[in-house]
Amino acid sequence: MVSVGIDALALATTHVQVPLSALADALDVPVGKYHKGLGQERMSIPALDEDAITMGAEAATKLLAHTGTDGIRTLLYASESGVDQSKAGGVFVHGILGLPRHIRTVELKEACYGGTAALQTALAFVARNPEEKALVIASDIARYTTDESGEPTQGAGAVAMLVSANPRLVEIEPVSGVYTLDINDFWRPNDSSTPYVHGHVSMDAYMDAFTGAWDDYRAYGGRDIGEFARFVHHQPFGKMARKAHARLMEYTGVHLQATNDTVNTDDSVIEAGLIYGRHIGNSYTAALYIGLASLLGNDSEDLTHKKIGMFSYGSGAVSEFFCAVPQPGYREVLAQTGADARSVMDMLDARTEVDFRTYRVMHAALRTDSEDFETPSQTTGPYRWAGVQGKIRRYSATS
Ligand code: COA
Repeated sequence: MVSVGIDALALATTHVQVPLSALADALDVPVGKYHKGLGQERMSIPALDEDAITMGAEAATKLLAHTGTDGIRTLLYASESGVDQSKAGGVFVHGILGLPRHIRTVELKEACYGGTAALQTALAFVARNPEEKALVIASDIARYTTDESGEPTQGAGAVAMLVSANPRLVEIEPVSGVYTLDINDFWRPNDSSTPYVHGHVSMDAYMDAFTGAWDDYRAYGGRDIGEFARFVHHQPFGKMARKAHARLMEYTGVHLQATNDTVNTDDSVIEAGLIYGRHIGNSYTAALYIGLASLLGNDSEDLTHKKIGMFSYGSGAVSEFFCAVPQPGYREVLAQTGADARSVMDMLDARTEVDFRTYRVMHAALRTDSEDFETPSQTTGPYRWAGVQGKIRRYSATS
């Protein structure tokens, strides 16, 4: 069977950020609750002329500047920050980037799991025709109601991935464990710009979906727990990934005793994957893959041919467990698209920091209607959402 996976990957976030220390001060919450309790330091927020489309377009531009578009026949755009009920977000990105016309483009949605749905669909397309490539974009803005418990776990991020045969970054193994259960832990009806969240219910649902997907993974011939060198678990906030990891270790504990010498049971096997998310916040569909980039870019060991357990969760709820295998030279591949550790930290440092008051004004100013309006020029990124004219959402390059 031909090897398929992620050939190259690029990241983007919005160009404004809020330190959670500012939120803690303003809301009179001990900052330790955010820094240690949730595992978060900062959250990216959108400028008034940024949205998930501009972020996705920026990530794809970084990727395609290196890879080119040859062979791309499919663009899969995953998001739960949809800007249109009908037109796919990927078609907006296709237009902004001026991509070739002979591409099928579609949007996928299932909360934070959507990025994995897009990746797995892309892998299937490529496995069927290994000459073809697929562009996967996962882009989201996690925007919660202010003064509710989810507020410090907001964030924004996008990832663009080129999926191909004989990938240079990571191979994705064919075995997957999958799981679906209809549950109301987190949802966003059409008339609301923020989700309804039962935070602690969602944490329990995440855990159940994790063991459910793991059991299915093993039932379908997946690897033994002892074969994994590292893990990346979906990270709405860092502490959730730590809890998930502890749960997996506990759940597989009987076997761990038998292979105690070969398995790292502590957080060192997830630590490097948590670095970017700590400074970006939740990025929903992109979060798992930003975590993968963080692991590949920051782990002190050479992970070539090591097995990385990947757990994807989307409220509602759908989950999947699968295995990614870094390929020789993966660090150079990251650097080619600006996804190496230094470039990513430079990108995060370049964001404009705003204070609590400014953040709340920006939060309240989001327009979701389709009357004519222009957005103020704020972003320092390459693309901006210019507003709505004639019921049409308009985008432009900033230079
Ligand atoms: N110093 C250190 N840690 C502190 C602290 C302090 N001063 N105060 C509280 N904490 C810890 C708590 O003990 C807890 O850690 P634990 O879970 O390991 O015990 C953590 O901080 C969070 O506190 P908690 O009271 O549970 O937070 P909350 O109820 O206000 O909000 C969520 C937490 C996750 C429910 C909320 O952020 C949320 O709704 N998020 C959005 C939904 C989400 O991301 N779900 C995840 C699955 S998809």
